[in-house]
Amino acid sequence: MSNNELAKGVHWVGAVDWDIRDFHGYSTYKGTTYNAFLVVDEKVTLFDTVKRSHMGDLLRNIRAIIDPTKIDYIVVNHVEMDHSGSLPELMDLIKPEKVFCSPMGKKALIDHFHKPEWPFEVVKSGTEVSLGKRTVQFIETRMLHWPDSMFSFLKEDGILFSSDAFGQHLASSERFDDEVDLSIVMKESTKYYANILYLFSPLINKLLKSIADMNLDIKMIAPDHGVIWRTHQSKILAAYDKWSKNEADKKALIIYDSMWHSTETMAYAVNDGLLEAGVSTNMVNLQVHHRSDVMTQVLGAKAIILGSSTLNNGLLPRMAGFLMYMRGLKPTNKIGAAFGSFGWSGEAVGLLNTALTDMKIDVIEDGLKIKYVPDEEKLEECREMGRRVGKAVCDIFEE
Ligand code: FEO
Repeated sequence: MSNNELAKGVHWVGAVDWDIRDFHGYSTYKGTTYNAFLVVDEKVTLFDTVKRSHMGDLLRNIRAIIDPTKIDYIVVNHVEMDHSGSLPELMDLIKPEKVFCSPMGKKALIDHFHKPEWPFEVVKSGTEVSLGKRTVQFIETRMLHWPDSMFSFLKEDGILFSSDAFGQHLASSERFDDEVDLSIVMKESTKYYANILYLFSPLINKLLKSIADMNLDIKMIAPDHGVIWRTHQSKILAAYDKWSKNEADKKALIIYDSMWHSTETMAYAVNDGLLEAGVSTNMVNLQVHHRSDVMTQVLGAKAIILGSSTLNNGLLPRMAGFLMYMRGLKPTNKIGAAFGSFGWSGEAVGLLNTALTDMKIDVIEDGLKIKYVPDEEKLEECREMGRRVGKAVCDIFEE
């Protein structure tokens, strides 16, 4: 069996994008893959395609197995362009008998490509289609992470084609989770969840429960990005369960930006207080951390403490931009606090408190404002604030 074969007759035919470093605002330092899968059965079936720029790789991989014009069915598990961008040209080349998609998938495909004449076959949760020796069971997964999203389960082989779910932006020549460093796979899976799926956590939790209730005999989970889970499925399923329940660790995150180091000095003093209280911390200076890496840390932190100097009666722009991004991802079940230095007006702390409240983060402090440069007395106030927030975190974990 080749390295690209998931089971006999089930092939990975996707593309590796070694170069991508920005995925609409998400930093992809390790590149990504666009996974597509070819099942050779009486009905030859292609599950998903790839980003248009990588269509040549897809076709080369298919041709190594079969003439692409022999493909009978195309399954579109997700319409986003990184998986459907090659579809118009492939449709012209392959002329498949059927294109399977969810009800919302058909609408989205027509809105993207304006080809209502394509041979759509709309499938719903529970619909089964025979490919010959194999059966595909479709499972709609609305808002995981688009309205059109669905999973396809290849019953006889126990392979779940899970679209974006359980994916990672990770380019590699290896195809499976047991062939690469698992700590890197989990790190990239965490980042993927925090930046793509976080806002849908309540829906994802319900969906995971309903899939567990289906008692599918899942032997392999094949997402559309990164490596395929064939050994550590329980690890990624447990992580999704935790993340989708918005469970965090006994950890505080201090996210700050500073003009002339006063807010930064405050941040380090708050950090000292948190450490004294026995809480693990991470310091995140927005001048050096990318927003998508910060969100990865937000996912696992119980306390979010924000610091910004006041600039032009507002927040420093990196903080304002980060809060816009964070708000969209809807982190919940956290406590928060704010601090910052100012010169004469001092609006930043109030704005940070408002942002935390808007995100339904429980603000447990009034907020600490310090004029210009903190002296030792003021730094002690910062440490005191850190101790109080740290105690609140500890109390939550002792309940
Ligand atoms: Fe990988 Fe939602 O596309």
